[in-house]
Amino acid sequence: MKIISLKNPKSPISEAYRNVRTNIEFSNLDKDIKVIMVTSSKQNEGKSTVISNLAVSFSKLEDKKILIIDCDLRNPTVHRTFGISNIFGLTDTLIGNKTFEECVGSISEANIDILTAGKIPPNPSEILGSSKMKYFINSIRDDYDYIFIDAPPIGIVTDAGVMSNFIDGTILVVASNETDVEVVKIAKERLEHVNANILGVILNKFDSKDSAYGYYGYYNESERQMKNSKKKRFSLKNLGFSIFK
Ligand SMILES: Nc1ncnc2c1ncn2[C@@H]1O[C@H](COP(=O)(O)OP(=O)(O)O)[C@@H](O)[C@H]1O
Ligand SMILES: [Mg+2]
Repeated sequence: MKIISLKNPKSPISEAYRNVRTNIEFSNLDKDIKVIMVTSSKQNEGKSTVISNLAVSFSKLEDKKILIIDCDLRNPTVHRTFGISNIFGLTDTLIGNKTFEECVGSISEANIDILTAGKIPPNPSEILGSSKMKYFINSIRDDYDYIFIDAPPIGIVTDAGVMSNFIDGTILVVASNETDVEVVKIAKERLEHVNANILGVILNKFDSKDSAYGYYGYYNESERQMKNSKKKRFSLKNLGFSIFK
């Protein structure tokens, strides 16, 4: 398992995730934000990395029960990250082959349940946007404090958008050196189009030497500290969180 928040909770990266966690907790004061989707404009920006670390970070809060659902049915990786089986998962639950209880797994290192993707279907968008999916999420809502949805990229296919009717908040992951700002804008517009509640943006793969970064907005205090700290040599793996709207 290569999740830094588990392996090295004292690292600046784990600290950055705790910072994101606090931001989410504070945005949760008035609304009940429980089902949180993580998406990005394209593949490989770090959605799955972010979601596994965030889930670990939240699971350290006292008595919090966390579920991760791998909804990236075109490129599921959550099972690999956590080293668990993907023989049965979300799609089997939805089809009715298996019950949720038969498909859900857990890990011993943290208080996290995991529902892997299951068999890859020919029609992911249809499945994720189905009323069965919505009904399923609503049926397990009360069993968890936070449900993290690892979603497909929003810029390429409509999968992430079709889930907005049961998602309370969305985090957009942006790989700061890899993704054109226009592409990020399109992703943001697509999310707004489906009335997604965008909680914020996580700048991933952030290189502090990258001056173009300023284009995205501001640093918060801890990012500034990280940027100026001796740990700078880890900067490629640093994370940032800034409010998008
Ligand atoms: N902050 C980071 N620094 C360096 N590599 C990263 C970082 N975040 C993710 N990666 C790597 O980038 C690749 C894609 O990440 P992943 O989380 O699978 O993206 P996605 O789920 O968006 O497709 C993986 O190999 C992952 O280890
Ligand atoms: Mg992924």
